[in-house]
Amino acid sequence: MGRLVVVSNRLADPRKAAAGGLAVALGETLKRTGGLWFGWSGKIVEDGTPGEGELHVHQAGSVTLAELDLSKEDHDSYYRGYANGVLWPVFHYRLDLANFESGHLGGYRRVNQLFARKLYPLLKPDDIIWIHDYHLIPLAAELRAMGCENRIGFFLHIPLPPPPILAAIPSHEWLIRAMFAYDLVGFQSHLDVQHFAHYVKAEATAESVGANQFRAFNSTVQAEAFPIGIDVADFQRLGRAREARETYETTVKEYSRRRLLIGVDRLDYSKGLPQRIRAFRELLLAYPENRHSATLLQVASPSREDVDAYNDIQHELESLCGSINGDFGDFDWMPIRYIHRTVARKRLPGLYRACAVALVTPLRDGMNLVAKEFVAAQDEEDPGVLVLSRFAGAAEQMPQALMVNPYDTHGTAQVIQQALQMSLGERRERHAALLEGIRKYDVHWWCREFLRTLGEAKQPPSATEQN
Ligand code: ADP
Ligand code: G6P
Repeated sequence: MGRLVVVSNRLADPRKAAAGGLAVALGETLKRTGGLWFGWSGKIVEDGTPGEGELHVHQAGSVTLAELDLSKEDHDSYYRGYANGVLWPVFHYRLDLANFESGHLGGYRRVNQLFARKLYPLLKPDDIIWIHDYHLIPLAAELRAMGCENRIGFFLHIPLPPPPILAAIPSHEWLIRAMFAYDLVGFQSHLDVQHFAHYVKAEATAESVGANQFRAFNSTVQAEAFPIGIDVADFQRLGRAREARETYETTVKEYSRRRLLIGVDRLDYSKGLPQRIRAFRELLLAYPENRHSATLLQVASPSREDVDAYNDIQHELESLCGSINGDFGDFDWMPIRYIHRTVARKRLPGLYRACAVALVTPLRDGMNLVAKEFVAAQDEEDPGVLVLSRFAGAAEQMPQALMVNPYDTHGTAQVIQQALQMSLGERRERHAALLEGIRKYDVHWWCREFLRTLGEAKQPPSATEQN
């Protein structure tokens, strides 16, 4: 097989920790396979020229990192405006938070063209190109227009909404058409694949030409679900190391008489944080035996703070946590410990292990890796319980979790109570089944399956066919 070339907006040194499912998963994949990882450097050049950017190429272990700077104008329109102001909210079913007025589509196209222009000269004929996420949907079409005939796959890390929601994006036909420049398009769940199939049949009059293959715009694309996983063995190894053990011990000691619940998320409106906090308040109201006992540790890492909706959610969360602590807290007990920070990855397994219950309750999520990390970190003899939103992609794969509808405050509180009360036998049984599932479908399975399917997908179209 040729060299693996991974392209994503967010890059991370695979030797260091990162927050966000994409960077974590790709770092773990590339550490094994080696290859080239191309993306944004994280640098914004204040007075840079739109459509231009300096490329920095350097080696990080077995991975070559190619990092591209972006001008402020490009970053504002491509990342902040279009990717995170239109695509992220709509793909997470939040039309109310999308800003269609802003005219940022031009910047989105310009940066995708810039990526193509800078990447193309680095490519070798037998490279396998794997492009990631909503920032870069049109990148293959741009590469094809330059004559690129390599195999190109795309993986969407976030959900694909049903056609009536997708169609609210003014440029939806152009976006979906761009997906036909790929040989393989991967989604997190079967539901996402169904949405893609419904959309292309209804809006693009695509024909089904084989299992999961669709023909439209003079091109054929294969669309399949590849639920992303974690590196279970590696995460468990991290759990046995000194930092995680220390974190476990200090947490257990600090909260010695308490039952701990944990939430670990980027501070994002898709994660259902206010709903989770309200469900926790409902737990304290409806089941008062939890007062002076249950403590929720909520760690929320700062994310996209230059996008308005993210500021709003931060203020809402701070005020909710403050009011619950004020109403219910006592000198020797605070119901919620809210920490607005990224925890060192080395400490995470220890933190998860010290907690009796994890609350993974997004309103909508492509997959959610925290659910899998929590399961991997548990003591098999005395495991904690996973409370999982039915609206996370992970729900398709983790039916042994306790499922909740995060919009239903009382129902969620009831399930949290069930989790806190669960017998050791039931906890072990559910945990063993969950662990088996995440071991089988780990991040290496995800990567292998995607690349195998891409390798077997139809021959790449010629550049002329695309035009
Ligand atoms: P998303 O990709 O939307 O951020 P995921 O749950 O799929 O959501 O992935 C999040 C990743 O980032 C996980 O590996 C998780 O451990 C990490 N992460 C999220 N929030 C934090 C935090 N506050 N501190 C440390 N790591 C975090
Ligand atoms: C999600 C997205 C990724 C993104 C990550 C962190 O996981 O699917 O593409 O990298 O969130 O968000 P950020 O905007 O900081 O890259």
